[in-house]
Amino acid sequence: MPNATLSITDNRTGRTYQLPIEKGAIRATDLRQIKVEDTDFGLMSYDPAFLNTASCQSRITFIDGDRGILRYRGYPIEQLAERSSYLEVAYLIIQGELPNAAQFKSWKHDITYHTLLHENVKSFMDGFRYDAHPMGMLISTVATLSTFYPEAKQIHDPAVRRPNMMRLIAKLPTIAAWSYRHSQGLAYVYPDNDLSFVGNLLAMMKRMTEQKYVPNPALEKALDLLFILHVDHEQNCSTNAMRSVGSSFADPYVSVAAAAAALYGPLHGGANEEVLRMLREIGSVANVPAFIKEVKSGASGRLMGFGHRVYKSYDPRAKVIKRAADEVFATTGASPLLKIALEVERIALEDDYFVKRKLYPNVDFYSGLIYQAMGFPTEMFPVLFAIPRVSGWLAQWEELLEDKEQKIARPRQLYLGADKRDFVPMEKRTA
Ligand code: CMC
Repeated sequence: MPNATLSITDNRTGRTYQLPIEKGAIRATDLRQIKVEDTDFGLMSYDPAFLNTASCQSRITFIDGDRGILRYRGYPIEQLAERSSYLEVAYLIIQGELPNAAQFKSWKHDITYHTLLHENVKSFMDGFRYDAHPMGMLISTVATLSTFYPEAKQIHDPAVRRPNMMRLIAKLPTIAAWSYRHSQGLAYVYPDNDLSFVGNLLAMMKRMTEQKYVPNPALEKALDLLFILHVDHEQNCSTNAMRSVGSSFADPYVSVAAAAAALYGPLHGGANEEVLRMLREIGSVANVPAFIKEVKSGASGRLMGFGHRVYKSYDPRAKVIKRAADEVFATTGASPLLKIALEVERIALEDDYFVKRKLYPNVDFYSGLIYQAMGFPTEMFPVLFAIPRVSGWLAQWEELLEDKEQKIARPRQLYLGADKRDFVPMEKRTA
């Protein structure tokens, strides 16, 4: 577009500046030329929580929050949910294209044969307390893998990078399942290469004394679908953590541990756990109006599973999940909390408070109910979010490393603290 510039007049000096507009943005560093005195640092933009700041250029995931659109590498999430599988989507998100039959065969083989953990990792996990939260175990165990694969530090060599990315995708289900077994006081179950990616996870979590665990195909399919929906979501809190830690050239294991820690928080991937707690606390359909009233007054915290920084309409992932829930409940029987959830959604979508703020159900509102119906304890919900998200984190991390414009992440601040003052000896301090 000709004249794609922004004119800024600094009313302090009367000077006007022309800033180029590229891809719908100005460069924040172009503001630095705006000064009152030559010795000034130059103008900055102030944007707590990155409300309006693009921190990177990306070709991975597209979101249009107003229209409820989510695409991975250009493919609409609804089509991938209907026609693809988690492993295929993981390939797509990392490689950028859907695999052909030979590529997929080799990818599936490589992931399947990297699922085992070093026996010392097992002893490490044994050291946790009997009631350790599985997400805390997952975060620490992933970081521990950094000590098992020291060559992973060679992050600029794709030939080293790729096998370690593969290991992370393949080993996360094993770590997740063993964290769960530990919290239940059950023996760890080794991977079964005859099963699908998701079937193997179910087996490692649920197998008891049977020789061979046969996953329920309906649940296997539903969990695979949930994994597809959770693969990536552009620059969210955990992805930003992955990129930020990765920008210091830390290895992928500790970077993924940092991203998983960010995911654990109740405002991010921990929200699905909180939704179930909230629905249990509401207790019955009759209590929903009073609970919503409390949320609006600020007395009951937020309505968990509602609202999103980017989506200002129905989260497209929540739509797909709601449909999948019916299929799962046909197999498992409906969750008694489903009726409460539907009533919460019905009332909130008609309520002025939520309508005005464009607060709609997000991906976490229904995913917890499905996990619960599948027999997963609440503490496992964020872990189940982390397993597929690792492929998104890795794709974003690799994109960062190959982006010549990127540098170590280092935001600026507006300093509001004390001006220079002299040290006061303790005996002379008053208050
Ligand atoms: N319940 C009640 N009020 C809410 C909620 C909610 N869930 N979410 C936002 N609001 C209100 C908020 O109080 C504010 O009101 P006001 O303008 O009067 O101060 C307004 O809506 C805007 O909220 P915000 O905090 O500026 O929005 P945000 O973009 O910073 O926060 C969010 C996004 C997801 C953190 C927030 O909506 C929230 O806390 N939701 C509940 C937690 C949740 O479900 N998180 C999962 C997100 S989806 C999974 C993922 O990708 O992580």
